[in-house]
Amino acid sequence: MADIGWIARRTLAVARREGVLGTIQRVIKYLRIAIGLPSREAEEHRRAKEAADRAFDEALGVDTGGTTHLFDLTIHSDNTALGVSHIATGPAHFHNAMAALDIDPTGFTFVDLGSGKGRCLLMAADYPFAAITGIEFAEEMHAVSLRNIEKLGDPRITNQLGDAEQFAYPTTDLVVFMNNPFDRPLVEKIARKIAASAEAHPRAVRVVYVNPRAPDLFSEAPWRRVGSAEGAEVFGLN
Ligand SMILES: C[S@@+](CC[C@H](N)C(=O)[O-])C[C@H]1O[C@@H](n2cnc3c(N)ncnc32)[C@H](O)[C@@H]1O
Repeated sequence: MADIGWIARRTLAVARREGVLGTIQRVIKYLRIAIGLPSREAEEHRRAKEAADRAFDEALGVDTGGTTHLFDLTIHSDNTALGVSHIATGPAHFHNAMAALDIDPTGFTFVDLGSGKGRCLLMAADYPFAAITGIEFAEEMHAVSLRNIEKLGDPRITNQLGDAEQFAYPTTDLVVFMNNPFDRPLVEKIARKIAASAEAHPRAVRVVYVNPRAPDLFSEAPWRRVGSAEGAEVFGLN
C-alpha cells in the first residue's frame, strides 16, 4: 500500500529538484500511466526496458528487473524521502558507462551505492575488480540481491543492507557506481565523504554517475571530470 506520508515527502523532494513545471509534468506522466494511457514514448520505453530485463535475467537465471516503488518496501533510514525507486541499470547503459573509465580496474574495489537487486554487482563481475560490493537500504531488494549473488557464485561479490550515507569505503583503489539512487542533498554528503576518504588514504577513486542529476557536485576541486558516455559521467580523484 502506498504510504501517503512517503508520497508527500517524496513529492516535496522532487519539487525542490525539478521546480514547479517539472513536478507538474511528472504528475501528469504518472497519472497517464495510472489510468492506462501512457504516452507513446513512455510505452515504447517500458516495452524496451521489459525486454532488456527479461533477456538479462533469463541469461543468468536471476531476478533483477522491474520497477519497485520505495513506498512498497521496508526501509529504516532518515534518507528515505531522498531515495529513487528501484529500476535496474540496463546492461548497455552500464557497459557504456564503464567504458568511459580512464583506469584499468584491475585491483580496484567496485562499490554500488543503492545496489537494488544487485544487477550492477553481477555485471561488474565481467571486469577484473579485486572486490565487488554494494549497499542497499530496502530490505526486500537486499534479500533478492543475496539470492542473485549466490546464483552467480563469484566469490568477489558481497552486498550489505544499510544506508549509503553510512558506507565505510575500503582503502583500496575504488570505482564507486551510482545510478541516480538518491537526490542532491545526499549526493552532496557522499561526494564530500568520498573526497575526505581519498584525502585520508590517498588512492585512485572514480565515480561512475549514471543518469546524473547532480553532476555539478563533482565538478570542483578536488574532483575532476575524466570521462563521459550517453547518460553517464565519470569523475575522479587522484
Ligand atoms: C535506480 S535504483 C538502482 C539499482 C541498482 N544500482 C541497479 O542499477 O540495478 C536505486 C536504488 O537505490 C536504493 N537507495 C536509494 N536511496 C538509498 C540510500 N540512502 N541508501 C541505500 N540505498 C538507497 C533504492 O532502494 C534503489 O534500490
